Amino acid sequence: MPGGGVTLSATTDVDRVEAPVTVKTYLMCAFAAFGGIYFGYDSGYINGVLGMNYYIHMQTGLPYSDSGDTTVWTLPSWKKSLIVSILSAGTFFGAIIAGDVADFIGRRTTIIVGCVIFLVGVILQTASASGLGLIVTGRLIAGFGVGFVSAIIVLYMSEIAPRKVRGAIVSGYQFFITIGLMMASCIDYGTQNRTDSGSYRIPIALQMLWALILGIGLLFLPESPRYFVKRGNIERATDVLARLRGQPRDSEFIQQELSEIIANHEYELQVIPQGSFLNSWFNCFRGGLRKPSSNLRRTILGTSLQMMQQWTGVNFVFYFGTTFFQTLGTINNPFLISMITTIVNVLSTPISFYTIEKFGRRPLLIWGALGMVICQFIVAIVGVTTDQSKAPISAMISFICIYVFFFASTWGPGAWVVIGEIYPLPIRSRGVALSTASNWLWNCIIAVITPYMVDADKGNLGARVFFIWGSLCACCFVYAYILIPETKGLSLEQVDRMLEETTPRTSSKWVPHSTFAADMGMTDKGTLATEIVADVERKGSVH
Ligand code: BGC
Repeated sequence: MPGGGVTLSATTDVDRVEAPVTVKTYLMCAFAAFGGIYFGYDSGYINGVLGMNYYIHMQTGLPYSDSGDTTVWTLPSWKKSLIVSILSAGTFFGAIIAGDVADFIGRRTTIIVGCVIFLVGVILQTASASGLGLIVTGRLIAGFGVGFVSAIIVLYMSEIAPRKVRGAIVSGYQFFITIGLMMASCIDYGTQNRTDSGSYRIPIALQMLWALILGIGLLFLPESPRYFVKRGNIERATDVLARLRGQPRDSEFIQQELSEIIANHEYELQVIPQGSFLNSWFNCFRGGLRKPSSNLRRTILGTSLQMMQQWTGVNFVFYFGTTFFQTLGTINNPFLISMITTIVNVLSTPISFYTIEKFGRRPLLIWGALGMVICQFIVAIVGVTTDQSKAPISAMISFICIYVFFFASTWGPGAWVVIGEIYPLPIRSRGVALSTASNWLWNCIIAVITPYMVDADKGNLGARVFFIWGSLCACCFVYAYILIPETKGLSLEQVDRMLEETTPRTSSKWVPHSTFAADMGMTDKGTLATEIVADVERKGSVH
């Protein structure tokens, strides 16, 4: 029969029993989360390196005395800004391109390619000495690799995870981002006073380890079944799904899950036919603004959600925390306080593994934003109304830590979970890629403009900047209330239907009432019509 002897039964039982989630399934799906470490480490390590006296002396050519040199040197702003922002440029373009690559060679393979590109970039950076050539080229190439990895990991994890634990598994990605940030800050701290090239080469070279672990580990994991469905290879889709769920190929669980993926894909292709390369890109922006299920609305939701996540101001703490704490007069060790904020970030994230599945994405984003608003306004008010003595400063630092707690347990993971869930398969890879690119774009914009708002010789906002972050978090609160749908517990295909039938505010009440497989004319205990399997296989080209 067409489909190489694949027999798929379909069901109308909408809340069908899913294959039990075994520890092995969990570990297989969660392994990719490790890739988050790139994101965090890469964002984190460069600030420390650019502040290291050895590195500054090497770049500026100034003589370096390793004994008793206590002057605080800095690199010229344009050099700092070029070295920092060139990575974001690479990641932005890497993420956008990665979506197409993932539809062409597969999600897993794209991440592995990303690791190789990243390795090349890191080798160039490690080899760099004085002069900007190697460090800038290396960061551009590494950024490209990070773009590949960061965009496609979320896509891959969302597509392979069982629906009941998908939120928790994708939150694992955020967990590794936080670990990456923390490690970068600890390693910079450890090497900053070295008087040789090890000061910057150690933190840079260490990243090769992440690429090797992720790239090699992924060789042993299966590809996403949804990729194979998109390519019309039902045979392989069945194989990988069976492996991922730890069930035999012909088990009811596998047959039903696969029928639904296939039927949903067929349905989406009927609604929006794919056409040429350019046409299929335009599909991300079709369907108008009125319906929450239109592709345009979903693309705007994903990209704006990542933008809002950046506007929470979290990276002010992680990128500029040390300098901000330095300006608060009585602080003895700003580096240590910075490190503490990264530790709070790591320790708070796992709470979301539970809460994102128990309470859902929508409440987490709404109440998390409110928590952040309160903390930031307290920091701002204490900052402008008190002297810079010990007690008020301790209060400010405590509320910054509570703010980080709210971010880490809500908006940090929530934004990544939601962008992995809202797109239908025909535009999913590009949608997730665009949303990730938006994260990097706003990350970069905020990194560039913040010093102009805060620095004493520029906007000189100091602690008043928290009024701005607080107001933006208030916008996040309203944004989440009006626009975020509840996707918890649904399969990606059910999310697709839910978006068609509800508004964000009514979405949490939605319950699945039919399946795409049933709507496509397949009956309970029936077999997926051979014409459908044949059709899917015939159409299985890159869209
Ligand atoms: C954000 C990063 C941020 C990190 C902090 C991520 O979700 O996208 O910009 O640095 O969380 O943990």
